[in-house]
Amino acid sequence: MPTSVFIVQSDLVEHPRKSRWPARLDLLQSGTGLALALFMWGHMFFVASILLGKTTMWSITRMFEGYFFFGGAYPRLVSGVAAGILLLFVLHALLAMRKFPGDYRQYRKMRAHVKAMRHEDSTLWIWQVYTGFALFFLASAHLYQMLAWPQNIGPYASSDRMWSDGLWPFYLVMLLAVEVHGGIGLYRLAMKWNWPKFSRNFLKKLKWALTGFFLLLGLMTLGAYMKIGFEHQARYGERYQPADLPLWLQELAPEGDFPRRNPPAEDAP
Ligand code: HEM
Repeated sequence: MPTSVFIVQSDLVEHPRKSRWPARLDLLQSGTGLALALFMWGHMFFVASILLGKTTMWSITRMFEGYFFFGGAYPRLVSGVAAGILLLFVLHALLAMRKFPGDYRQYRKMRAHVKAMRHEDSTLWIWQVYTGFALFFLASAHLYQMLAWPQNIGPYASSDRMWSDGLWPFYLVMLLAVEVHGGIGLYRLAMKWNWPKFSRNFLKKLKWALTGFFLLLGLMTLGAYMKIGFEHQARYGERYQPADLPLWLQELAPEGDFPRRNPPAEDAP
């Protein structure tokens, strides 16, 4: 093969202008990661509403289904949000794949470097790769379920899924993976774009505090769903229907669904 052909084919020719695409893709990866992390914070609080009682979780679920705005519940609205998050997730994962080790040899080298250097940020990065890989499967399965059967979300439906359908170990692993991944991801974003302008030490502490907080909230939430699921197993499949709502919510509910009077105090989970 003539030398010139070899050089062109193996991409050894010098490009006169550097491409801007790697920077653009990096920005897109950071942007999708940030959007997903913010979504997860909101998601965690909505799911944790079960800690305030079944009626609270029921009301939040119905709110997302448009029940208090459109005169009836439309679970397909939740499918729409889940589809949007799935798209964002797939894009984020695609962009992240650029940074994964390409083969086993690269992976071994990377691990050896991280071990030898004992560099904390590199160790965090490798954990982000592991948890990100796990989330490929876990989050896709969860999102698909939310997208395909959005009507099966609620105090009893979700708890039955956790307990009687036996999905709590799945949620436990996903919770650990998503909190570790999101925490490290946000820390790395702050380091990379130099915002907010805190010291590395402070950002690291903030990261652990946030991860700890969301893990604790997540574990308490998981426990609450498991407890309700356990107590509800004999009536598996039955859906929760509150007898009453706070007065201001009754007024937003479709006409005739709730008697307009003061309800008793909220029930405990
Ligand atoms: C629009 C999209 C989403 C919806 C509607 C949704 C909804 C829910 C609901 C209702 C639960 C309670 C259990 C159940 O009913 O199955 C739950 C739990 C959970 N979801 Fe999502 N989710 C969405 C996206 C995500 C994403 C992208 C992740 C990231 C991996 C995620 C991670 C989790 C985790 C870890 C739990 C367990 C929380 C705990 O036990 O404390 N979810 N989700």
